Amino acid sequence: MALFSIVFKNNVGIYLAVALSILLIGNSSAQLSTDFYSKSCPQLFYTVKSVVHSAIQREARMGASLLRLFFHDCFVNGCDGSILLDDTSSFTGEKRAAPNLNSARGFDVVDNIKSAVEKTCPGVVSCADVLAIAARDSVVILGGPDWGVKLGRRDARTASQAAANNSIPPPTSNLNSLISRFGAVGLSTKDMVALSGSHTIGQARCTSFRSRIYNETNLESSLAKARQENCPRPNGVGDNNLATLDQTPATFDNNYFNGLVNRRGLLHSDQQLFNGGSTDSIVRTYSNNVNVFNSDFAIAMIKMGDIRPLTGSNGEIRKNCRRIN
Ligand code: HEM
Ligand SMILES: *[C@@H]1O[C@H](CO)[C@@H](O)[C@H](O)[C@H]1NC(C)=O
Ligand SMILES: *[C@@H]1O[C@H](CO)[C@@H](O)[C@H](O)[C@H]1NC(C)=O
Repeated sequence: MALFSIVFKNNVGIYLAVALSILLIGNSSAQLSTDFYSKSCPQLFYTVKSVVHSAIQREARMGASLLRLFFHDCFVNGCDGSILLDDTSSFTGEKRAAPNLNSARGFDVVDNIKSAVEKTCPGVVSCADVLAIAARDSVVILGGPDWGVKLGRRDARTASQAAANNSIPPPTSNLNSLISRFGAVGLSTKDMVALSGSHTIGQARCTSFRSRIYNETNLESSLAKARQENCPRPNGVGDNNLATLDQTPATFDNNYFNGLVNRRGLLHSDQQLFNGGSTDSIVRTYSNNVNVFNSDFAIAMIKMGDIRPLTGSNGEIRKNCRRIN
């Protein structure tokens, strides 16, 4: 209250106070909490983790795919499960948007988790929250840091292909555009670098890195040569051939950053983080100290999970993640 009585003494103060209250009201993520389902679904964490665990045992890459789904959900109108909606004859969702088409995967695993959760707590837990927990579990199972996942998000009744096209950064991005795309959703440059460390797991398709391995000079030559063997130069040939994003794709470690320091980033956007610019020092820090990376990564994941959630009576708790109720 003292703050308000001081600022209200002049006109500028009134504007400040109004701006401050808009900020506080606008911050709906204040309603998310780690114990949101502790009474309504006490087995939730156990249930999610056991399904994620068996999916990763079948295929280690699935951990990477689930983590990426959460990112692609959160960057498009907030973490609201919108990416999980299937297209229908009368509805165009996000699955066929440019960043997701032939690329986003793991939807069956999300279905399996959701069905397991519905068995014990029907109609209680949102798909958006299931994805947030599955992303954390994937990181932990593959050897990365743990964090308390904030919960209480509700599911969107809409999706936006246009927003998916325009909000998720493409691999052709330069450093300034990466900084500004993350800034647009309230994430700092440091958050952006830490979150890019997700590329310590998983794979990319030839079409995502072709121009880099044939045309760019800030790429270590033996890696360029090795990647060219499974990614032919002509557009359209071998587009979906896969390559790992770092040398240890099934372990969540800081090898991705060691790779960047050695000019071994696979995507153009990866190497932008260590190319003589303002983020070189952050990359060096993460490359030298896995504990700093792990801790910054966990903080940034919590921040990303706070992007514009639907709460209260907004949205719904979907029964099936693929369609609105
Ligand atoms: C900084 C901007 C980013 C760009 C430009 C970018 C771009 C990409 C691209 C092009 C791929 C390969 C997709 C394909 O070829 O099918 C990929 C894979 C991946 N991305 Fe990112 N990404 C970024 C940030 C992030 C963030 C913030 C996360 C998670 C928090 C993330 C997690 C992943 C994971 C785990 C994979 C591997 C997925 C799999 O194997 O299924 N990325 N990313
Ligand atoms: C999104 O991108 C895809 C692929 O480039 C394109 O086919 C589609 O029309 C775009 N959608 C919108 C709504 O702009
Ligand atoms: C490399 O750059 C040249 C000249 O800009 C372009 O014509 C060619 O398509 C590029 N190659 C690849 C594989 O992107």
